[in-house]
Amino acid sequence: MTKVFILDFGSQYTQLIARTVRELGVYSEIFPCDASLRALQKENPAALILSGGPRSVYEEGAPLSDPGLFRLGIPVLGICYGLQLMAHLLGGRVVPAAKREYGFARLKILDRSGLFKGIRDGSQVWMSHGDRVEKLPPGFVLTARTANTQVAAIESPGHGFFGVQFHPEVIHTREGKKILGNYLFNLAKLKPEWSMKSFISRKVAEVRQLVGSERVLCGLSGGVDSLVTALVVQRAVGGRLTCVFVDNGLLRESHFEEWLERLRRRFSLRVVGVNAAELFFARLRGVVSPERKRKIIGQTFIEIFEREARKIGGVKFLAQGTIYPDVIESRPVKGPSATIKSHHNVGGLPRSLRFQLIEPLKELFKDEVRSLAAELGMAREFIAQHPFPGPGLAVRVLGEVTPARAQLVREADRILLEEVRKAGLYHRLWQAFAVLLPVRSVGVMGDQRTYEQVVAIRLVESLDGMTANWFAARPEFLARVSTRIVNEVEGVNRVVYDITTKPPATIEWE
Ligand code: XMP
Repeated sequence: MTKVFILDFGSQYTQLIARTVRELGVYSEIFPCDASLRALQKENPAALILSGGPRSVYEEGAPLSDPGLFRLGIPVLGICYGLQLMAHLLGGRVVPAAKREYGFARLKILDRSGLFKGIRDGSQVWMSHGDRVEKLPPGFVLTARTANTQVAAIESPGHGFFGVQFHPEVIHTREGKKILGNYLFNLAKLKPEWSMKSFISRKVAEVRQLVGSERVLCGLSGGVDSLVTALVVQRAVGGRLTCVFVDNGLLRESHFEEWLERLRRRFSLRVVGVNAAELFFARLRGVVSPERKRKIIGQTFIEIFEREARKIGGVKFLAQGTIYPDVIESRPVKGPSATIKSHHNVGGLPRSLRFQLIEPLKELFKDEVRSLAAELGMAREFIAQHPFPGPGLAVRVLGEVTPARAQLVREADRILLEEVRKAGLYHRLWQAFAVLLPVRSVGVMGDQRTYEQVVAIRLVESLDGMTANWFAARPEFLARVSTRIVNEVEGVNRVVYDITTKPPATIEWE
């Protein structure tokens, strides 16, 4: 299958490049920028894209890649830092710009034979850079500029090398998708052959080949990621798959019982239900650090999976519903991207894992997993569920996680979701949840002073969980939720509304 590899130099937009390429019908994956030539060649990519990044190519310790990648004989497109790196490594010169350029610009197209075929002159692009190419590398021609950027695009069609200073992957670049399409289809001569259907058959074939005649265990959570994973593995290995669904005491109200039933009935999966709430609470006693909570939970899950695997016997593989944001936020691919939080199924894994992992969705974003679920024939009620974090309510109980504190947040969560559904908001939102804060505040109830707990409410809109906006809920809605929580959840005398975007906050509080 034709694949395009994106080398990541730490840009916040790298994942957008990957998904835009897939939306255009070409399979793409992200690799760290210092991936070895051998590793790249082994996978045989048809073309490369070098991402943007926050550094300067000429500074000490800047992320560089092996210049040999320009000798692989495949087309390369550099974006922003990627363009500058190309210029730097191929004999041009990059210098600091007199003024950082950030925001909209209009393209003055000088040559329409390559990247800019069919693109309007004056087309809006998005710039974000502090350096500029001063001297083009030999063999390149200038193909576009903007009012502030002399070198907005360069091309060397003979070599198959192209570079743009702006970001074609962001929506602010109006014709960005068309420019990427020109690169993929006209210049790199690829064909749009990739679709969710072909993804499923490829993953099924890969899993089948990897697993051979062995057995697989799959951790289920009732969420769409792990369910899609299980269905892909089931297609590959049939009856040699056993799923394990663990009640860690940190799930939503009635979630475990309802889902256990559905998973068995509707999806014909063999599911072992394990009640391990006590074990999780015992391990979490006295723990307040978010990262420690996540690690403890991740490790406890694995211990339970190992125990269940021993009962079954001969299980060599563990399938998990890891998706791309779990990987990128937990496991920095390269220096410039930092660990944000350890998603339990990635960063929470013990060092010596007895299983070999199968993670068929690990390159995909949530909305891509949802299209995959639709392709697998899953009903909307399953597909459109809000994401729920692997460590569950533990990351919504700030401070120590006890059964009573988890129960309090569970009740607040139930009320909030009831009201969200009643108001017809569920499908407009990425997530809606309650968080128990580790503080008390003074109140007055029935002429008595109270000194009780605070619940925060978070409603967010997002496309892929990588960025999010807080939802501007109506005051009447917020008033109803607040009144109900204070009246119905014992021990709460105050409700606050979270009005922070991601970034700078994250969606979950821990
Ligand atoms: P943050 O809080 O990092 O979350 O903005 C982004 C999205 O990921 C969900 N999330 C998780 N999902 N395992 C998961 O499967 C985890 O450990 C985890 N932590 C956060 C979160 O709910 C949001 O939708």
